Amino acid sequence: MIKIRRANIDDLKEIYRIEKESFPDPYPYGLLKAFLFHPGVYLVATINEKIIGYCIGIIRNENIGHIISIAVDKDYRRRGVGTILLKTTINELMKLGAKKFRIEVRESNIIAIKLYEKIGFKEKERIPNYYSDGETAIVMFLEQENHQK
Ligand SMILES: CC(C)(COP(=O)(O)OP(=O)(O)OC[C@H]1O[C@@H](n2cnc3c(N)ncnc32)[C@H](O)[C@@H]1OP(=O)(O)O)[C@@H](O)C(=O)NCCC(=O)NCCS
Repeated sequence: MIKIRRANIDDLKEIYRIEKESFPDPYPYGLLKAFLFHPGVYLVATINEKIIGYCIGIIRNENIGHIISIAVDKDYRRRGVGTILLKTTINELMKLGAKKFRIEVRESNIIAIKLYEKIGFKEKERIPNYYSDGETAIVMFLEQENHQK
């Protein structure tokens, strides 16, 4: 059974493993660690205690819930883990005062864009050269009233 819980320092090795297999430009281990000590929401998904995904969200400008990163272990994708991680992160950010939610995504990352659209995020703007390799970012927003818990 898939469970969602708060991340802790013992989870970092597995979070970093998933990060490296998921992104061409993974966050450094130290940054993934630093977010554990940053106010916000840092969740892991587990199956039989094994970590199969993580999601980080923080509050910006008092009421914007900013999704920093989400990734699911390659072997466990397309089973709803990303959806439940993201929805739970949003629900927890709402408890911290978030009224709307922001996420940036590479314009080539069709799978992630579909996940965000399914949850209700809508494109607001595009930022050319946002990523280190020059790729454009799509900035997407979700309003609280459009979020189905
Ligand atoms: C994006 C990611 C987190 C999705 O996780 P997941 O657990 O596979 O997602 P879900 O199973 O909840 O899928 C949710 C929706 O995303 C879309 N989706 C997921 N995988 C897809 C695929 N292979 N092809 C097309 N659409 C897909 C679908 O709309 C899906 O809904 P559906 O199953 O009802 O059709 C995962 O693919 C991942 O870790 N990717 C690498 C890291 C990454 O790109 N993160 C986002 C950075 S901005």
